[in-house]
Amino acid sequence: MEVLVRRAHPGEAQPCGRICYEAFHKIYTDYGFPPGLLKADPVVDLFSARFSHPGFWCVVAERNGRIVGSNCLDERSPVFGVGPITVDPEVQDRGIGRWLMEAVLDRSRERKVPSVRLVLAAFHNRALALYNKLGFDTREPLSVMQGPPLRFSIDGCTVRTAALHDLEAANRVCERVHGHNRSGELSDAILEGTALVVERQGRITGYASSLGFSGHAEGESNLDLKALIAAAGSLSGPGILVPTRNSELFRWCLEKGLRVVQPMTLMTIGLYNEPAGAYLPSVLY
Ligand SMILES: CC(C)(COP(=O)(O)OP(=O)(O)OC[C@H]1O[C@@H](n2cnc3c(N)ncnc32)[C@H](O)[C@@H]1OP(=O)(O)O)[C@@H](O)C(=O)NCCC(=O)NCCS
Repeated sequence: MEVLVRRAHPGEAQPCGRICYEAFHKIYTDYGFPPGLLKADPVVDLFSARFSHPGFWCVVAERNGRIVGSNCLDERSPVFGVGPITVDPEVQDRGIGRWLMEAVLDRSRERKVPSVRLVLAAFHNRALALYNKLGFDTREPLSVMQGPPLRFSIDGCTVRTAALHDLEAANRVCERVHGHNRSGELSDAILEGTALVVERQGRITGYASSLGFSGHAEGESNLDLKALIAAAGSLSGPGILVPTRNSELFRWCLEKGLRVVQPMTLMTIGLYNEPAGAYLPSVLY
């Protein structure tokens, strides 16, 4: 099969968004998940934003002049994240996903990043096999959780919208937990107005780039994450990703009425430190 993998153009968001929607719709329906988890329009908007953002390196796979898949590499922070990668359901399982992954891994090697990460639907056998063969190690079981807005505050914790002058202190929290920061993503989120910080005794002890599927959160302790989740008006997309091994936080979310939507898995290539603190990964990592 003649397939060309090349850089994506901003004008190609529509076909890539459609393929992404259809690929996830199919996988969710095949595995018996509610099909309404993903909406078509926001997916196209997401591709428009990524294809024109200088911090993303995105590729498409083209077959006989027709786009049949795409993949994105988020290069905004010192650790790169992959996704979404999707292949047209009509031509899946024929090697196109591997080519799309190899393209972003080659790029990551050229850029000499210490680590590349992704999150996948835990039940997707093909993706799990493919990523393992490409060198990704399984790191963390995750539970996507969703529920009604909690809207309460926790004694001793002040949650407020983040400003650019909070960036350095927030980055320090992330560095303390993971050994690296996610500064590029966080500064974008601050400018978009989705980021929150939590303060205890006048000091920033945690932050969320946003509360939901595409946002990550870091905290010195579970208390900081609880304060952020409790303050959130709503959890965007399918929900927040809670590390399932963090039993205290997971149990707290269940007690507060959040429901488990689906299992996911964090995978990494390269440098990885066991997190030293509390965190919620995004769907990227
Ligand atoms: C995941 C996805 C991108 C993979 O693309 P693809 O073109 O279908 O996959 P490929 O054919 O390139 O690779 C599949 C590999 O897994 C292997 N494989 C497939 N099912 C397998 C199984 N059940 N057990 C073991 N290996 C399996 C294949 O043999 C192949 O290995 P190879 O590269 O060594 O030949 C595509 O299936 C897709 O879009 N899925 C829906 C959306 C999605 O879940 N995206 C990923 C989100 S993280």
